[in-house]
Amino acid sequence: MTEVTALQQLPVFPLRNTVLFPYVLGPFSAGRSLSVAALEAALASEDKLVVVVAQREAAAERPSPKDLYTLGTKAVIKRMARSEETIELILQGLERVELVEFPQTAPYLRAGVRPRPIAGEATTETEALLRELTTLGAEYQSLAQPVPEFDLRQVAEQVEDPMHLVYLIASMLGLELEKAQALLEAPTRLDALKLVHSFLNHEIQVVKLRKEIAGQAKSEMGREQREYMLRQQLRAIQQELGEKSPQEAEVDALRGRLEEAQLPELVRKEAERELSRLEATPAASPDHQVTRNYLELILELPWAAVTEDQLDLDHARQVLDEDHYGLKEIKERILEHLAVMKLNPEAKAPILCFVGPPGVGKTSLGKSIARALGRRFERLSLGGLHDEAELRGHRRTYIGAMPGRILQAIRRATVRNPLLMLDEVDKVGRDFRGDPSSALLEILDPAQNYEFRDNYLDLPFDLSRVFFITTANTLDTIPGPLLDRMETLRLSGYSDEEKMEIAHRYLVHRQLEQAGLGEGQLRFPDESLRMIIRRYTREAGVRELERQLGRIARKVALQFAEGRMQPIVAEPALLPEMLGAERFFIEEARKDLPPGVVTGLAWTETGGDVLYVEAIRLPEGQKLTLTGQLGTIMQESARAAQNYVVSHADDLGIEPPKGSVHIHVPAGAIPKDGPSAGVTMATAVASLYTNHAARGDTAMTGEITLSGLVLPVGGIKEKVLAARRAGIQRVILPARNEKDLRALPEDVREQMNVVFAERIEDVLAAAIPQLAPRLRPTGTSAV
Ligand SMILES: Nc1ncnc2c1ncn2[C@@H]1O[C@H](COP(=O)(O)OP(=O)(O)OP(=O)(O)O)[C@@H](O)[C@H]1O
Ligand SMILES: [Mg+2]
Repeated sequence: MTEVTALQQLPVFPLRNTVLFPYVLGPFSAGRSLSVAALEAALASEDKLVVVVAQREAAAERPSPKDLYTLGTKAVIKRMARSEETIELILQGLERVELVEFPQTAPYLRAGVRPRPIAGEATTETEALLRELTTLGAEYQSLAQPVPEFDLRQVAEQVEDPMHLVYLIASMLGLELEKAQALLEAPTRLDALKLVHSFLNHEIQVVKLRKEIAGQAKSEMGREQREYMLRQQLRAIQQELGEKSPQEAEVDALRGRLEEAQLPELVRKEAERELSRLEATPAASPDHQVTRNYLELILELPWAAVTEDQLDLDHARQVLDEDHYGLKEIKERILEHLAVMKLNPEAKAPILCFVGPPGVGKTSLGKSIARALGRRFERLSLGGLHDEAELRGHRRTYIGAMPGRILQAIRRATVRNPLLMLDEVDKVGRDFRGDPSSALLEILDPAQNYEFRDNYLDLPFDLSRVFFITTANTLDTIPGPLLDRMETLRLSGYSDEEKMEIAHRYLVHRQLEQAGLGEGQLRFPDESLRMIIRRYTREAGVRELERQLGRIARKVALQFAEGRMQPIVAEPALLPEMLGAERFFIEEARKDLPPGVVTGLAWTETGGDVLYVEAIRLPEGQKLTLTGQLGTIMQESARAAQNYVVSHADDLGIEPPKGSVHIHVPAGAIPKDGPSAGVTMATAVASLYTNHAARGDTAMTGEITLSGLVLPVGGIKEKVLAARRAGIQRVILPARNEKDLRALPEDVREQMNVVFAERIEDVLAAAIPQLAPRLRPTGTSAV
């Protein structure tokens, strides 16, 4: 049948890389003269037909007939636009044709073509394949085309010739030339369907894979990439404007500071190394900030800066007196040290340790010394410190590493010779994280601290010019080697009279000022101060007293703020209204004691305290029992006390007792130790066995030996003041403690009735009136 059909003569439009399928509409552009001439000829014709055919070799600029495939597509020019050299056009594919002959080759090719419809009928197989193609095609669209070019399912329903759909799908796949041409040349429908099916499957896999890869890359880079891009853009803009990037500007600023800073050679080298590292690290990297912080520390540390000491002793004395009442001995010792520093400026500053109960002015004395000397003052508390790294810092490789507290304090001080107060050295802990006191040893050792190494800084820093003062409530818990490095100065508690003075001269004034009151607006009569001291506070120091004065001052300030005009005198009668009910009662001392109970005096971290030692008989056969958390020394002195009494039963006028005793020292939660309760326990046991009560107005302290000697003990001032606070006027003390009474203020010495004892008999005679005649006292009574 094909033989009889006459050949149609058409201009040839050769395609380089693609194929136009029948039924398909596609845009093309033509630039080669051969093509342009062919298209112009076609346009000039009535039906505007061309034959479109692919070149076997894309490279051929002027293809001859043998360069072309023999199957092509007859097409009609739908639209055309001309620019200078090229023609843009839209072609509609019509039918498959064979190019049989080429009657003309110049200026363009003309071919005689013959239609070559595809063979084959619709079968169930083609039908099934077609459905499958529609589904796959739609899937491909949803994967590859954000906005589908057309609705495939709809097209599938509308087209008459299934090949229309096949070609449409093929054209949207953008197939390589070989594949496309193979499809165009497919001998039967079934072949064509199978080919497109396999192409489509392949393309879907490719798109999926591509998406997956893109997705991964996206999530990996995501934010970072974006930031990087933004930064690059910022940089470009800044360069355009002749500005520096923030990172460059930062590095430049640091370099400038580095050049100006007075750094030791070693430190400068290290800093420069870090600076180049900073330059090389991207600003977004976490290392950048770490390096930066480190450089900031180096730049801020006072490697060279010092303040000049003011060593005028008169001035120093004046400052110390201005800030603190009393404390004569301590102030003298401090002035002595300053005198030494003046004579020998190279001498290392002493390391002082202020020991005493809370609120007696240890910290504030340190501040005052700094003021007298003209040194900067910095303070850090060692209380509860467990980890050595807190003092020495963590290596920079740790996340969030920081310099230790010592260096931080020095940095705050901005000079390398501040007065550095280390509060609460007695409360330094020790556990698995290390022993901070060993680090302290190094810090306080003049032989080592000129090149103190902080783990974070990792460069030696000279601490030898620092004036260290430590404070503690007790020396008992300070490790020996540490204690050896320090010169201890004791601050003891204040008597009521001293507190009155301190209140008058310092506290009242300070609290008025803090509350914003003028001197005339609130006055405290002596009577009120005394009442606050005795009834509202019970302490060795003056901290609570100051707090109570502050409370009153604030209440009064409020009244003035609310419009009050006349000044207020804080009369004793007003105190309950301002401070609430009295909290302590002078009468607290027990007046009448049963036999076996005796008033003792103890020395605690918070000053002195009154405590009652109680003894009861145990039935025969039971051993001596001790309760109240007594330390070993105290237990031994309890045994000594009991044995003494038992062996001297005769002197006391009693039958040698058969059973033992149970001795209890209340306030059980507080561990107690030391020998100074010896006389008290002996008196309690004696009182119990003789069944004579001890005097309730008398308190005592002292160590005893088995032979009955009374030995001196510590903390006399604190103990006597504690007795007085409790309203006890009579105390029995070891004779050899007589000299310690000098530490007591005049008025206290006058008011207290002190009995000095050399032997236990003196104590018993003074404490238990009924025994006095038997025991021929040798003690003297100082009134
Ligand atoms: N002799 C004094 N003269 C004037 N003010 C004093 C005196 N003693 C203590 N103070 C004042 O008492 C308050 C408490 O003193 P500070 O804080 O120095 O006590 P501290 O001994 O350091 O106590 P802690 O052991 O609890 O640290 C401060 O306001 C201080 O000025
Ligand atoms: Mg303190």
